[in-house]
Amino acid sequence: MVPTVDYSGLVDPDGGTVAREIFVSREVFEAELENIFARAWLLVGHESQVPQADDYVVSRMGTDSVILTRNRQDEILVLLNSCPHRGMRVCRYDAGNTQIFTCPYHGWSFSTDRDRVERPGALVGLPRAREGYGDTLDRARWGLLPCPRVVNYKGTIWASWDAGVPPFEDYLGDMRLYLDTALDHRDGREGGSVVLGGVQKWRLKANWKLSAENFIGDLYHNISHQSADLAEIGPSGGKGRRDNLRPRRTIGFPALGHGLLGYPPFYDEPPYADTWRKYPEVEAYFRSLHEARVKRLGNSMRVDMSVGTVFPNMSFHSNQPRTLLFSHPVGATEMEMWRLYLVDADAPAAVQDAVRAYALRYSGPGGMTEQDDMENWSYATEASSGTIARRQDYNYQLSLGRERPIPGLRGAVDSGDVSEGNARIFYRRWAEFMRGHDWATLMAAAASEPEPAPLAAHGD
Ligand code: FES
Ligand SMILES: [Fe+2]
Repeated sequence: MVPTVDYSGLVDPDGGTVAREIFVSREVFEAELENIFARAWLLVGHESQVPQADDYVVSRMGTDSVILTRNRQDEILVLLNSCPHRGMRVCRYDAGNTQIFTCPYHGWSFSTDRDRVERPGALVGLPRAREGYGDTLDRARWGLLPCPRVVNYKGTIWASWDAGVPPFEDYLGDMRLYLDTALDHRDGREGGSVVLGGVQKWRLKANWKLSAENFIGDLYHNISHQSADLAEIGPSGGKGRRDNLRPRRTIGFPALGHGLLGYPPFYDEPPYADTWRKYPEVEAYFRSLHEARVKRLGNSMRVDMSVGTVFPNMSFHSNQPRTLLFSHPVGATEMEMWRLYLVDADAPAAVQDAVRAYALRYSGPGGMTEQDDMENWSYATEASSGTIARRQDYNYQLSLGRERPIPGLRGAVDSGDVSEGNARIFYRRWAEFMRGHDWATLMAAAASEPEPAPLAAHGD
């Protein structure tokens, strides 16, 4: 059902206010599923989760369960995990390897092998077929629904249910440079990362947008992490969560809805900062890779590691712990968070161990930093759900009107070191999707973005 109510007026990005309804209302949530999650490019997984033919993992797109699999022809496919017969979840494991997906309810089975079927996911077997259906069943019609648009971007698999969605790289714009810092090998090679271990999955009673807007650029909430900052959870074993992080800027892409906390582009890479002092082998690894990266990238323009959100619900940290985050919508006041951790495909075991241990004490349901955030979002959601509380707007006026263009980046603005500028960008984009605009309208502002001012050349 395409929603007929336009909820876009609930946000006022120019004035810096957002109605609480969009965080607690079931009607708004249902409209988001249609207007945003059934259309936008969504992260589904990473190719290293399905390295062999017939490997699969079960993932989510919006509230739909999907199967991410690699067929015998090495194609990566995304199929709706709901049986066309009576809707049963066909695959109930998180991951595995199978030639045929067989529905546990009545036994219909489906294949992705193009030597057997024309369309991946097609129906290849059903009990008592001849006796029950004769020749009347149209097998081509009753297969698992394949997602029409799937792209492999440097190992990450993205998909959209909208066949008319623009190319992924247009959707990403120059945000690509920042996402690359999470996906590329630490020596500067493109891609070259794999998922370390499995996927952390947990649910919390909070609206999915609180997570997306936090990682798009909320530096203002650092007070929440005071206890984590006093503990010794950083990679070097010293006090604090991270080491040697230079002051970051709030950088956003108003025409596309993406944003990050990080650094404007540059040519000269800052020198390696000591990080893993307690682990000399790990320190030596990252130092040597830093040097290799500086050499490989030479004088090319680049950006540094950051934390950001790709609209609508994919966030990433490219600094350690290097991770991809899904903020899956479950209900108006509930989300399911998934974290994948990335590591260089050829990282030695000692590096993988150190990265894994740091990731676990920092992120995920057991990580100190994530626990602080989860507490904020779940209490905020509950305290916003009351009859009186729902009538009040949220305030997003921090550094309102301070956006400045950034040389070297198309369509990007910097709104300061502490700012809610990226949240305003996020909710502006949210409203554009919620208005039900077509893709030409949704992409018009990005397409007409002027060439960015050139970045002062190397050595200037
Ligand atoms: S629901 Fe899958 S075979 Fe009946
Ligand atoms: Fe936080």
